[in-house]
Amino acid sequence: MIQKYTFGTPFETEAVVALLPAASDDLAFGRISTDDGFFFSYALGPDDKVYGLGEANRGIDKRGYLYVSYCADDPIHTEDKHSFYGAHNFIIISSMPDASKPDASPNAFGLFFDYPGAVTFDIGYSHRDLLTVSCDKLDLHLYVITGEGPYDIARQFRRIIGKSYIPPKFAFGYGQSRWGYATPDDFRKVADEHRRHDIPLDMIYMDIEYMDHYKDFTVDPQNFPDFSAFVAEMKQRGLRLIPIIDAGVKAEPGYRVYEEGVEKGYFCKREDGTKFEACVWPGTTHFPDFLNPKARKWFGEQYKVLLDAGIEGFWNDMNEPAIFFSAEGEAEIRTWMEKILQGELSFHSFDFSDHAKALANKPEDYCRFYHDLGGGRRVRHDQVHNLYGFNMSRAAGEAFARLAPGKGILMFSRASYIGMHRYSGLWTGDNMSWWSHILLNLKMLPSLNMCGFLYIGADLGGFGCDATEDLLLRWLALGVFTPLMRNHSAAGTREQEFYQFDHPEDFRHVIQVRYRLIPYLYSEYLKAARNDDLMFKPLAFVYPQDRIACNIEDQLILGNEAMIAPIYTQNAIGRPVYLPEEMMLVKFLPDGTLYQEILPAGHHFVEVALNEVPLFIRKNKKLPLVDAADRVAALDMKTMTYIGYPEAPYELVEE
Ligand code: NOJ
Repeated sequence: MIQKYTFGTPFETEAVVALLPAASDDLAFGRISTDDGFFFSYALGPDDKVYGLGEANRGIDKRGYLYVSYCADDPIHTEDKHSFYGAHNFIIISSMPDASKPDASPNAFGLFFDYPGAVTFDIGYSHRDLLTVSCDKLDLHLYVITGEGPYDIARQFRRIIGKSYIPPKFAFGYGQSRWGYATPDDFRKVADEHRRHDIPLDMIYMDIEYMDHYKDFTVDPQNFPDFSAFVAEMKQRGLRLIPIIDAGVKAEPGYRVYEEGVEKGYFCKREDGTKFEACVWPGTTHFPDFLNPKARKWFGEQYKVLLDAGIEGFWNDMNEPAIFFSAEGEAEIRTWMEKILQGELSFHSFDFSDHAKALANKPEDYCRFYHDLGGGRRVRHDQVHNLYGFNMSRAAGEAFARLAPGKGILMFSRASYIGMHRYSGLWTGDNMSWWSHILLNLKMLPSLNMCGFLYIGADLGGFGCDATEDLLLRWLALGVFTPLMRNHSAAGTREQEFYQFDHPEDFRHVIQVRYRLIPYLYSEYLKAARNDDLMFKPLAFVYPQDRIACNIEDQLILGNEAMIAPIYTQNAIGRPVYLPEEMMLVKFLPDGTLYQEILPAGHHFVEVALNEVPLFIRKNKKLPLVDAADRVAALDMKTMTYIGYPEAPYELVEE
């Protein structure tokens, strides 16, 4: 059951699509205080778990930390961080199973705080047994969901937020990316090397260097004098180019997108109606007003020029929006430096970098520009900050439906709010080549699914820092299961394309495992999207009566048939795995054969070599496998066999 409580005059975020009547009952859980903004509190039981929050730090169980839902351009994802790129305000509070009542579902309820500004979730951080959720204003919808345990609650929530985005099938192939590919030969080299080593590949991503001076919807005329021909050349080789689109539009006289946006008034403005400019990659930029329906439509139309060139996928970036510095920020640092130069202030070298860093994404800057909602209504950006990336991708998604009806276009975004899942996938932004980020990647998957996001993935191998061959192999052994499977890294880091390492054959093997699994992964994805279900589930959702399973945070149920337990520690020969029931351990071996062994329920230590991919098949289930191919379109469904328990049924869903 879902109850909708409305406080004040909420901004309609359009996260929820179901029409729900106002709640008739008093709030059954927790207390609300409205003395100073909105403040919800609930006393957590000693064993209670808290799930949700989508793209957020720490565990699958969010208890014990403070999370601030406010889309943040912060590339350093250390344990202390409170905000990441997404803002997903849905949580589920669930008791642990009661050993004396083995058939009863755990007591659980879900809460969705539909509020587009900053929301603070203090989940047993200030006080171990207290959950509080607060925001500055008393204008929000609160949805309270009750049901049969956390899994049922997650699915009920999914039903009210609308169907998740379904990408085209090629988007389940492998994609190679790196910030720095600029010339046609850079892209050709990636294609050539993958083909030379017989490593499957479907997509090559184009980061900002493909553009003309970082101007959206342009290409560098020197490098790509005939862009359509280059796109066609790659397509001929079975490869799709996937360009990046940044939120900020370069302010440059003569640049069509900028001039049109200024003329039509489609960029965000200051309170007095004058322009708001800030620096991002292209230098001075303007931010399109994605919350204005006309501006949204206009921005969406801009993708046409690339669609017309044969492009079939995009990644939307810097859409928190990221701001390197504003005019005010620049003035501040100038004044500060002048005072130092004139001897009015003493200079400490460490001050300089602190001052420079503090210019980026300043909260004050988010208060300096407004959105024009039409009909004379305006709203200051900070109050609706979390909707910006959502509406950028919505602009594109709505345009694709008009410009390329029926044609699947791949799209994923960096910033997001619940609701964006209907238009787009997401990637989890700038992680690092750290072993701990493999685990973080794993833990976000079910939380994101709870919030509607199914087409998801992390930068495999890590974006920042230098990747090692073993890290990349272990990370890929998780990445083979994530819908978005992309190796991406930052300029200046160690090159981490497979052919840069000593053993390209190991990478070939792992990527071939991915392709063998695509019919299964796509089928389970389609089922999850169509049935408002999760593709990745915590063990607690599937084995709610098993107290040990409810505590496992590094294994996940994949689809309905499988369990994954990747290795995320360096130099490990294997890892402990807990089986809540009998399962078949399958290891994809580098010679293309399978190791299969039925293991009884309980604790095991499973050895896995660096070039093997482990998978567990649940008791009395099986899943399809095909022969690998060099791209998704070349997969031959006639080669399909099954692994697992032979007598089990399996329903294969295809497009
Ligand atoms: C930030 C994105 O998160 C990253 O993936 C990209 O490479 C850089 N912007 C440059 O475009």
